[in-house]
Amino acid sequence: TKTIIKDQLKRPLRDLRISVIDRCNFRCTYCMPADIFGPDFAFLPRSELLTYEEIDRLARIFVDLGVEKIRLTGGEPLMRKDLPVLVGMLSKIEGLNDIGLTTNAVLLPKYAESLKNAGLKRVNISLDSLKDELFGEINGRGVGIKPVLKGITSAKEAGLGVKINMVVKKGLNDEEIVPMAKFCKEEGLQLRFIEYMDVGSTNGWKMDDVVTKQEIYNLLSEHFLLDPVDPDYFGEVAKRYRYKDKNVDVGFITSVSESFCSSCTRSRLSANGQIFTCLFNGNGHDLKEFMRAGASDEEIRQRIISIWDGRKDRYSDERTAETAANRKKIEMSYIGG
Ligand code: GTP
Ligand code: 5AD
Ligand code: SF4
Ligand code: SF4
Repeated sequence: TKTIIKDQLKRPLRDLRISVIDRCNFRCTYCMPADIFGPDFAFLPRSELLTYEEIDRLARIFVDLGVEKIRLTGGEPLMRKDLPVLVGMLSKIEGLNDIGLTTNAVLLPKYAESLKNAGLKRVNISLDSLKDELFGEINGRGVGIKPVLKGITSAKEAGLGVKINMVVKKGLNDEEIVPMAKFCKEEGLQLRFIEYMDVGSTNGWKMDDVVTKQEIYNLLSEHFLLDPVDPDYFGEVAKRYRYKDKNVDVGFITSVSESFCSSCTRSRLSANGQIFTCLFNGNGHDLKEFMRAGASDEEIRQRIISIWDGRKDRYSDERTAETAANRKKIEMSYIGG
């Protein structure tokens, strides 16, 4: 039986987001702008990355402390060699109900089937536009939408659940809101509109760049009839609606306009083994060195208990223009969103 631990705001530990690599084959302007993440950027050396054995060891301890859901992220997680091997290891952990992957889908045609066979249940795929040129601009690599569509198809064919993530930035891709909604509805894909967030310190975020859920909802209402849907589980990140004339959902991730910190049960493990208790709290707790110095499972467990016990993060609840400008933050590509 699991030990249930709660933080200072009485939130249990339920989810673990594991970043397996800080590199990505894209340079999305809102996440890894190409002028900063250039050819000389110092990504983590291989020796700094947790091995799959180390990730598996930590994951087991986390599951024992209440984690039910693991999501693999990056950078681009499929850039890490042999990712299905890790999925296979994690899927053997008893008490873990769900393993997901957040990806840009470009490498999915290569891996979808082996990921599914290894025990992966679902993928969340980022796609911000249906226009090749605009999409190429946003991903910073001039890649058109075709490789992503191929990735989506291969995930579906492999039997993986698929959701689409669209980060909306004002003046950039807001004209793609309705076309994306139509496309995903037709394809039977759940689309989630994500409010552009002030993560990291490289994307030059401004409040004015945010298109809120309310604005997107109003726009959708001109084209579709929607019914609200109850959350799937406590702390579901997206607020969901269902099309009246089709059994397909559409969601909103409202981290700016309607924060959801009070039900935030997520912890994050970076590729080099640091634990972060909030996407916006740059003070990580290093488990890698602790582990490599010979800590026992019980010592690691106690360390995690004490980290979670001290947690009181609620950054999105408290966000103001001032805190957004002044906080020490972690890059999205480092922590995987
Ligand atoms: P599901 O398990 O499918 O619900 O996945 P998810 O929505 O939790 O994960 P995904 O990686 O698809 O993230 C979608 C968006 O939600 C990304 O922009 C994340 O950065 C954002 N997000 C996820 N968790 C949090 C969180 O705890 N706080 C904030 N502010 N944003 C989050
Ligand atoms: N704001 C909101 N979402 C972001 N993502 C990356 N950067 C940002 C940001 N600044 C999204 C990606 C991916 C998910 C993990 O996080 O598009 O879908
Ligand atoms: Fe890569 Fe995803 Fe960041 Fe884009 S949002 S640069 S695909 S990690
Ligand atoms: Fe959780 Fe921090 Fe996001 Fe709030 S801002 S929901 S505490 S990760």
